[in-house]
Amino acid sequence: MRILFIGDIVGKIGRRMVRDYLPNLIEKHQIDFVIANGENVTHGKGLIKHHYYELLDYGVDVVTLGNHYDNKDEIRRYIDGADRLIRPLNLAHEYPGDGSAVYDVDGISVRVTNLLGTAMMPEQVNNPYYALLDLLSDPDLEPATIHIVDFHAEATGEKTCMANALKGKVSAVIGTHTHVQTRDYRVMDGVAYISDVGMTGLYDGALGFEKDSVTNRIIYGHQSTFKIPDSGRGILSAAVIDINDLSGQAENIFPIYFVEEEK
Ligand SMILES: [Fe+2]
Ligand SMILES: [Fe+2]
Repeated sequence: MRILFIGDIVGKIGRRMVRDYLPNLIEKHQIDFVIANGENVTHGKGLIKHHYYELLDYGVDVVTLGNHYDNKDEIRRYIDGADRLIRPLNLAHEYPGDGSAVYDVDGISVRVTNLLGTAMMPEQVNNPYYALLDLLSDPDLEPATIHIVDFHAEATGEKTCMANALKGKVSAVIGTHTHVQTRDYRVMDGVAYISDVGMTGLYDGALGFEKDSVTNRIIYGHQSTFKIPDSGRGILSAAVIDINDLSGQAENIFPIYFVEEEK
């Protein structure tokens, strides 16, 4: 089984990058299943229903979320009917939707789970490791051969140690949230791992947003909202993961870091 995991898709440029380049990536790399982090899809924060279906139309099979899961109110109204949308599993409060689900991919069962980290993350969450253990120990749990975890977290140490703690339990721990792809992709004891798969959206910016608007806030300390342009040179960040169909263990992972030519 070969899985493509696309990093945080940001805004209109991110959606365009998926539309323009995903079909070619699927064909070129012989991809069986596509997972994409969609927490920033709608104008940089959250995911409206229309954009969720747009991603499915472009060839994404499952969309995961992150700390911006609730940024657009309408998600509460459609997530229960969106069987290819996974929100964080370890939320500390009641929330509609699922944090983990199983999909049939050509007769092979693939579980996808979304977890939020705790280090330098302000969200109220339950411990992500024990939340996952609780899930896996449920006697009524639907079995799956392959299990891909999107670990949406800030700290690389927390992400690496989660992959280590989950050896023998999952097939891959793929880091999201920082919007910057890391170089540390590897298979650790049968678990495919990368600290962060990176961002899909505006390349000539900061985090996928117009860079002066980000600088105004995080460097100068001004009250400023992140602006997000509709056009510009894009980047698509992703990882290709090979999993053994029988054992569920990862065999290989390599990153994709595609930047458009300057026009
Ligand atoms: Fe993000
Ligand atoms: Fe995030």
